[in-house]
Amino acid sequence: MKVMVLGSGGREHALAWKLAREGHEPVCAPGNAGTAELRGARNLQLDPDDPAAVVAAARETGTELVVVGPEAPLVAGVADALRAEGVPCFGPGAAAARLESSKAFARAFMERHGVPCARTARFSDPAAGTELERFIAAHPGRLVLKKSGLAAGKGVLESDDPVELLSFGRAVLADDELLAEEFLEGFELSVFALSDGRDFAILPAARDHKKAFEGDAGPNTGGMGAVAPEPRADLALMAEIRKRLVEPTFSGMSAEGLAYRGVVFFGVMVTASGPKLLEYNVRFGDPETQSLLPILPEGFGELLRDAAEGRLDQAPIRTFEARPDRAACGFVVAAPGYPGAYPKGLAVRSLPEAENPDGLLFHASTTRASDGILHTGGGRCFAAVGLGADSVRARENGLALAAAVDFDGARFRRDIGA
Ligand code: AMP
Ligand code: GLY
Repeated sequence: MKVMVLGSGGREHALAWKLAREGHEPVCAPGNAGTAELRGARNLQLDPDDPAAVVAAARETGTELVVVGPEAPLVAGVADALRAEGVPCFGPGAAAARLESSKAFARAFMERHGVPCARTARFSDPAAGTELERFIAAHPGRLVLKKSGLAAGKGVLESDDPVELLSFGRAVLADDELLAEEFLEGFELSVFALSDGRDFAILPAARDHKKAFEGDAGPNTGGMGAVAPEPRADLALMAEIRKRLVEPTFSGMSAEGLAYRGVVFFGVMVTASGPKLLEYNVRFGDPETQSLLPILPEGFGELLRDAAEGRLDQAPIRTFEARPDRAACGFVVAAPGYPGAYPKGLAVRSLPEAENPDGLLFHASTTRASDGILHTGGGRCFAAVGLGADSVRARENGLALAAAVDFDGARFRRDIGA
């Protein structure tokens, strides 16, 4: 199957790797230096956020399925444009993408459909600063403030410092809505459910590590590493997540006429009083995907196509369980300064092998110059994914792989999966 994978990150590299491995022909648009070197795949220069350009490229290349990696093309209406032209697309339309692009919309949706989540107050008026100040004073202790719109994982502040909270909140209110949530204690899981608009299939749970530094210190990032499967997500917990979070979400979407063909990423906090939903994303997680795909059995490409074409009920595999003999532990190798300001275009001096039985190296937004030198692109530059028969071996292998990535200031958290 000819599959176009939209995006240039590590998640898209992993998607293309999995599809190529299953014998499909991925075209990565625009891809990165890693996908350019992936056997069975090729890159195509393209703006993935431009619906007309994506439709035209899909037609020219005879694409049978478009898989959308990041949220921006979905929010821009790329999936709607493709479907209007009869091109199957794995990814929701712009209306459903609001589950991610507006945290205010998502929170109201959760409340309408009884999906358990943190108690939340909403501030939408730019002049709500005084109201916010009163709210913070009335809720001493830890609070979580969130910008409603897209912020690449950086629109969230957890703090118990009223001054810091107020200054973050005022900055958000200048141009967006603000949510203030009760702080939930527990452990986080990333749960992915594929939907075709009627049926859904849940993948094994992964665990991201959101904080920038070891010991879960420092600011939130897009994710510094991920393990899959997450051992604490046993059958009983997954059944509870299905019943309390996933089922009401999909029945709510049907009731609201939001037919959903793609993946819903449930950001879950497992608290003492059960799983609660932190957020929806309308795409796979990054870096969760880099750790999750290598432990899934064959047939992933068909599953994406069946979801895109509205026939998951005919999919040969409905419960996509992790291979029992396989664990993955991925380390994000980041640029110095990330998630704050960081240099781009750093020359990469050396890299481990892209693929061996003990691990995989995925690139994010890298480019190769005409002189052959590889350059970093974004803040999270590579995901070094260790594989093994168990999580301990996987972690050791991932650590060795991450340590072999060499560029100025390369940094990773050594405690992923510890
Ligand atoms: P979000 O973008 O809503 O997923 O928030 C980013 C990260 O902030 C989450 O992955 C959590 O680590 C943390 N977080 C968000 N909301 C809460 C909350 N209500 N309680 C505790 N931690 C939270
Ligand atoms: N790793 C979290 C995310 O993709 O949003």
